[in-house]
Amino acid sequence: MLVLTVTGTLAAMLALISYFKLKSMRLVDRVKLQMAIHTKLRIPQLLQITGLDTRMKPKLTQFTASNGFKILLPASFTVAVNEVLKFKVREDDVFIVTYPKAGTTWTQEIVWLICNDGNIEGANKQLLTLRSPFLEIVDCHLRNGIQSLENWSKSSQRVIKTHLPYELLPEDIRKGKKCKIIYVARNPKDLCVSYYHFHRLAKRMPDPGTWPEFFTNFCSRKVGFGDWFDHTLKFWEKYQEDKERIYFVTYEDLKKDLRKVVESISKFLEKKFSEQQLDAISEHCTFDSMSKNKSINMSSHPNFMDLTKSKFMRKGQVGDWKNHFTINQSLAFDELYQEKIKGTRFNIFFGN
Ligand code: A3P
Repeated sequence: MLVLTVTGTLAAMLALISYFKLKSMRLVDRVKLQMAIHTKLRIPQLLQITGLDTRMKPKLTQFTASNGFKILLPASFTVAVNEVLKFKVREDDVFIVTYPKAGTTWTQEIVWLICNDGNIEGANKQLLTLRSPFLEIVDCHLRNGIQSLENWSKSSQRVIKTHLPYELLPEDIRKGKKCKIIYVARNPKDLCVSYYHFHRLAKRMPDPGTWPEFFTNFCSRKVGFGDWFDHTLKFWEKYQEDKERIYFVTYEDLKKDLRKVVESISKFLEKKFSEQQLDAISEHCTFDSMSKNKSINMSSHPNFMDLTKSKFMRKGQVGDWKNHFTINQSLAFDELYQEKIKGTRFNIFFGN
């Protein structure tokens, strides 16, 4: 009897201590704990994903989503995919869908301003990663995308970033629910170079190896977020079928005439601006201006990016691939490109 009473009291005390410990835990630690329970990950993997152990570069994971779609993803990005499929879309949502390094951040800033009356002062006051959440990210430093979007005020429009391919977007989107989707494509040679450098600086991306190794992996679909051709050409096809919901633009269009694209996206989103406002948004979104802007250039995310290895806002050019590709790599890629785009009427500018 005595033993039972002592055990019971001890258990009650432990429960009480755990309760107060949980209550007093910092939000980030609670997110980590929730992730551990939710994902059933082993501790070393968890430490890596949460950024507590930044010495290890994560591996790619072959992931099969609950709808059967298979994709290669950096470990931390597999956690939320099945939740993304069930994500509730709102009619005024704007999704920015891209393969990584296509000009996502650039478009996010433009679209956020368009959706927020061109409020540059407001944009400068808050990090872009908070203003325009990354749907599939589960990360205590950049926040949990789905969680912050679900808690988003109904009176404020959501500008949502995602790198997931069409097949893994929320079911609401694929069932035709009203919303707006902006797809940004970039010529795959420049994108491949940008992706290579990004792997060097991003702590949650795998080690890219040498440039020739990365190039080979990119061409043989062994990189995170799967095959560039599948991602882009699928959206190109969807765009032909649904121009009311989908706007398709290229990085090269943005480089050629930023002001024109800003105006055209405003029309697509049914927002009206004066000539001066359009000028101000375009000026704010030049490479020079954005690379100095701390709310955008990722200098506030040292846990996620090591900017001593490479810059997030690196060169911002069309045709930089010529400084990386050998003649043989370029010829091999051209052959692959021609074979893949055959019959699609898709084409993209690779620079002069
Ligand atoms: P580079 O690495 O070629 O410089 P994402 O946002 O999808 O990760 O894409 C990042 C790429 O877009 C980087 O390319 C970055 O420099 C470029 N970029 C970002 N903002 C830009 C801007 N305002 N003008 C031109 N390029 C921009």
